[in-house]
Amino acid sequence: MADKFDVIVIGAGPGGYVAAIRAAQLGLKTACVEKWQDKQGKVAHGGTCLNVGCIPSKALLETTHKFVEARDDFDELGIVGGDVSMDVKKMMARKDKIVKNLTGGISGLFKANGVTAIDGTGQVTGNKQVEVTDFDGKKTTYEADSIVVAAGSVPVEIPPTPMTEDLIVDSTGALEFQETPERLGVIGAGVIGLELGSVWNRLGSEVTVLEAMDTFLPMVDGTIAKETLKLLKKQGMDIRLGAKVSGSEVKDKEVVVKYEDADGEQEQTFDKLIVCVGRKPYTEGVIAEGVEVELDERGFVTVDDQCRTSVPGVYAIGDCVRGPMLAHKASDEGIMVADIIAGQKAEMNYDAIPSVIYIAPELAWVGITEQEAKDQGFEVKTGTFPFAASGRAMANNATEGSAKVIADADTDRVLGVHIVGQHAGEMIAQGVIAMEFGSSAEDLALTCYAHPTMSEAVHEAALAVDGHAIHMA
Ligand code: FAD
Ligand code: NAI
Repeated sequence: MADKFDVIVIGAGPGGYVAAIRAAQLGLKTACVEKWQDKQGKVAHGGTCLNVGCIPSKALLETTHKFVEARDDFDELGIVGGDVSMDVKKMMARKDKIVKNLTGGISGLFKANGVTAIDGTGQVTGNKQVEVTDFDGKKTTYEADSIVVAAGSVPVEIPPTPMTEDLIVDSTGALEFQETPERLGVIGAGVIGLELGSVWNRLGSEVTVLEAMDTFLPMVDGTIAKETLKLLKKQGMDIRLGAKVSGSEVKDKEVVVKYEDADGEQEQTFDKLIVCVGRKPYTEGVIAEGVEVELDERGFVTVDDQCRTSVPGVYAIGDCVRGPMLAHKASDEGIMVADIIAGQKAEMNYDAIPSVIYIAPELAWVGITEQEAKDQGFEVKTGTFPFAASGRAMANNATEGSAKVIADADTDRVLGVHIVGQHAGEMIAQGVIAMEFGSSAEDLALTCYAHPTMSEAVHEAALAVDGHAIHMA
């Protein structure tokens, strides 16, 4: 038997690494096991988010957004430049550098906080035991009073479009294209499809998104989702709803996708195809046979509201448990669980987790939609304010989109805030704080907002809940 720890965390993504650092900061002897290896075979901390998720995708989104601004908007602003063009390889190299800096940064934070990093594949072999298999196949068993499973998730594959080396790819493959595909197919108009579809659309790909459902982004308020769809279509994204993919055929350097929509059988040829139809928990083999940590039929570890599994002392957090698959949700669960292990009281408010889709303009929301509120029996009042009526939005050349506040007509409590507009991802924090503090729409309306800011749209939307927006006829 090797070292004994107070806490062993399996997985160093935003759930696991945050749990490990917090536990160490609270004085617990903590280890974190990670098996992710970079292209050089070195262990890379940070999980999906830092290696192939949030961070690299945002690096590409930001670069391509700046490119489009320089190409399409500078002239209108009076900025005189030459023709702009994109060096895709340089963009990718910058993205790789950011990933390397950040993943190395986590290893640095482990050292600084006294977290023992263990390289290899971890398995829970008992309620107080973790077996780690290193990259040479050597097994070591560690003991811990508490274990946190933070194994994350992987992309879902579908039978009609099996992955190929570089033609039919998942999100990880789509972050590695070294040149802009002429015709890009995307299966799934979800978060990844819209973000990565936007990246390549901005660089000139002809992007077709095939979405099985008839409703576009059903988790977003209907008014805001409709406006977003219109904006994306205006940017040239061909988003086809109600398109059910039935098969694909790889021909030389092309892929032919067959699908069925309201008009019958269709087929379309692409140079690259990204399959992004959701992610699934990555829990296979993480729990040894005979250990009674319960998994559900989809492979998620079953947990209570405070991330306790069915075995005392074993917790699970992040993408491998119920709830939205988001980095900040994983990290907050990591903090909650570390606090609980250290004997503190901790809980999370799952009703106030923000979501952001980093398209341009950004789409962000927290809480429920107007329709969901009605379905839940609330009498609802709403206020909407278009950025077209905002002075700062005009100055920013960013008048597209709107902000909407949804409130309970009886109590005036804020039930949801949904925004499509420049910096919506930053602005949504106001809605999160309002909901976290149980604010009314009037609280937002009576709050002093700096002028001129994009955030004033949220203020005006809150004023509009009672029909009194100032800058709208
Ligand atoms: P992960 O980040 O998946 O980390 C799990 C870690 O556990 C991995 O490093 C894995 O190697 C390790 N592991 C698994 N099993 C074992 C084992 N047996 N032994 C040792 N180690 C193991 N979310 C956002 O909030 N914002 C975004 O902008 C965003 N963008 C995204 C873009 C893309 C393209 C993708 C794919 C995802 C994005 N996400 C985003 C989602 C986000 O990446 C995940 O929600 C987040 O990474 C989940 O964190 P986690 O710690 O639960 O799991
Ligand atoms: P998703 O769940 O967001 O979207 C998948 C879409 O694919 C859905 O609209 C679904 O209806 C559709 N679909 C499913 N099967 C299909 C089929 N056979 N044919 C056509 N369409 C089909 O999943 P996605 O985009 O893969 O992302 C996975 C998760 O990663 C997200 O749910 C999110 O939690 C996380 N993520 C978060 C980001 C962010 O916070 N900005 C960015 C990227 C990912």
